[in-house]
Amino acid sequence: MPGYEVIDKQELYQCEDILKKSKTFFRMGFEKKRNGIFKVLEFEKKFGSYFNAKYCLGVTSGTAALRVALASLNLKPNDEVITQAFTFVATAEAIIEANCKPVCANIDDTLNLDPKDLIKKINKKTRAVIVVHMLGVPARMREIVKICKKNKIILIEDTAWGCGGKINNKFLGTIGDIGTYSFDHAKAITTGEGGMVVFKNKNHFLKGKAWHDHGHENNPKFPRWEDTRKSSGFNFRMNELQGAIGIAQLKKLDFITKSQRKNYYLILNSIKDIKGLKERSIPKNSYISADALIIIVKNKKIAMRCRKFLLKSKISTKILPEAYSWHFAGKWSHMKELNKKKNFKNSLKVSEKILSKAVSIPIFVKMTKNQISGIRNSLLKSLK
Ligand SMILES: Cc1ncc(COP(=O)(O)O)c(C=O)c1O
Repeated sequence: MPGYEVIDKQELYQCEDILKKSKTFFRMGFEKKRNGIFKVLEFEKKFGSYFNAKYCLGVTSGTAALRVALASLNLKPNDEVITQAFTFVATAEAIIEANCKPVCANIDDTLNLDPKDLIKKINKKTRAVIVVHMLGVPARMREIVKICKKNKIILIEDTAWGCGGKINNKFLGTIGDIGTYSFDHAKAITTGEGGMVVFKNKNHFLKGKAWHDHGHENNPKFPRWEDTRKSSGFNFRMNELQGAIGIAQLKKLDFITKSQRKNYYLILNSIKDIKGLKERSIPKNSYISADALIIIVKNKKIAMRCRKFLLKSKISTKILPEAYSWHFAGKWSHMKELNKKKNFKNSLKVSEKILSKAVSIPIFVKMTKNQISGIRNSLLKSLK
């Protein structure tokens, strides 16, 4: 799991710069006061060089990142944006907030967007796809990129759970047109609340950047209060304390990813002889960020038994099965915009079947031998 496990003096030193030297929480302006300290800007630059991404924009959350990504495109009301049935409500909420129609495609055995169902969901109104790399495993990007290019559809990668992961040697979030990241408390790196948007196209970046700041173009020819603007926007600006923490956390991302991967494979090796479970499918050439190890068991009843025994040994599970109703679109009857289509729930039966048999074991940076053997013993009891 996450960056909160590795908080130390580095975060403190970064924040001290603000509290002692710049005394400025706003990300821009106040040049005379701030002693040259621009933490959000520095975080964006460092994020860009780590991820090899040209245009990065810090925002207030992963949800805001999705909303800003959509605002950077010239979408019209009722344009359709396709996402996947297994994600967090935030992905669909951002589409609804952008005044577009959310469309949910099924997942496949990777538990991410099924390229075959994506093809079926594309129509004349489709403008964008938000693929989600759920719980640290890349989606089938080779196929999905091809489909989007062929149909001239913008591809957004919701990388809330994939920060630090790669496929074909490219960081997740930098493969499609736009990538979004979340730095909330449960994520690989955390700024408490926070997010990043990574753009390939300069015009998308400029539009998104202005939109996240009430339309401000930050025109260097004018002071901020006389700034130019071309459209309205909103306020999703990251603040300096978030930027400062982000700089310290980013330095640890490599260590976090490597430690999680090490623990993931230790656990996987320790359970591979247990009959009745298999690992979720992982696309070829993936470098997983290993947020969680998802195993597939025979049926829902066994999945629930796994949760019970994991809880007993103080391991718990992560999202599946306990927070299933927040992460499976088939359960979102409260979202009127999603449920307009007849047959909506039936159309997601394939995903429901896959998810009902899945058990997600959280991976931490720091795991003891006892925790790892606790996982093995709990699964042995559940599958007896
Ligand atoms: C797939 C996905 N997208 C977006 C978000 C939203 O991120 P945040 O909590 O930073 O708003 C989350 C949050 O967990 C998520 O799981």
